[in-house]
Amino acid sequence: MAEADAELHNRLIYYVLPTIIVCYITFRWCGFKKAKFQAFLCNLVCSYVHNKFCKKEKTLLFDQMKNYEKSRSKTHAAFTILEIGAGSGMNFKFFPSGSEVTCLDPNPYNEKYIIDNLRKADNNIRLVKFIKGFAENMPDVPSDNFDAVVCTFTMCSIRRLNDAVEEIKRILKPGGHFFYLEHVAAPKGSWIRYFQDKLQCIWPYISDGCNINRETWNILDHSNFKEVQYCHFSASTWLAFFARPGLYGSAIK
Ligand SMILES: C[S@@+](CC[C@H](N)C(=O)[O-])C[C@H]1O[C@@H](n2cnc3c(N)ncnc32)[C@H](O)[C@@H]1O
Repeated sequence: MAEADAELHNRLIYYVLPTIIVCYITFRWCGFKKAKFQAFLCNLVCSYVHNKFCKKEKTLLFDQMKNYEKSRSKTHAAFTILEIGAGSGMNFKFFPSGSEVTCLDPNPYNEKYIIDNLRKADNNIRLVKFIKGFAENMPDVPSDNFDAVVCTFTMCSIRRLNDAVEEIKRILKPGGHFFYLEHVAAPKGSWIRYFQDKLQCIWPYISDGCNINRETWNILDHSNFKEVQYCHFSASTWLAFFARPGLYGSAIK
């Protein structure tokens, strides 16, 4: 019995405890680095992937935004935009010149890239502030405050999307527009949807919480926005065929 106790004691001291300590340190270190790495990756990959494979749809979407901005009375102050899940700020170059932009993202490491990409966009856009936060709950953002909210390739990652859409409506001015462009679920019964449904069990773990088979249009259809419009499209990529189905459009408060 004493021998067994000694053996157990040795195992705990020499194997189990060091393993726990190493795991803890690795977790803390990786946890810190993970967000930094994700911001780096987002800046590197999103700029290429989103702007190349959805260029036509992005241009059409932001043309809608420019038309809306022009249609406002000239007595209005600067056009104010809140970008949800702004990532590294790849959309600035599409925004109307002279806009005032507030960026919201849970990853604080994105702020540096946002500032860099704002400078590169060179279209007279002012960054009002970067808010580290989640779209589901934006207590720092006053109600009826923005002319437009922009959200691209982010609704797939938002955990409580219904809550986020309610929050977006709250912070928009009456008549304000919500502009979105997202990858979504393929139609039920299609072979891409079959693949998406199979992939979904691992996809959020390898892609920072993204849901590959989300029927985002259902949430928009059942939101309290006055007018909801969207077009389905297929992104021009063969390699990432499972992320091809997309939608873009706008909703009015
Ligand atoms: C795939 S990136 C898209 C970035 C950018 N919108 C673009 O189109 O290139 C998704 C972004 O959503 C952010 N995100 C994830 N969950 C979020 C949430 N609940 N609320 C707001 N942003 C979130 C991530 O930090 C990330 O920057």
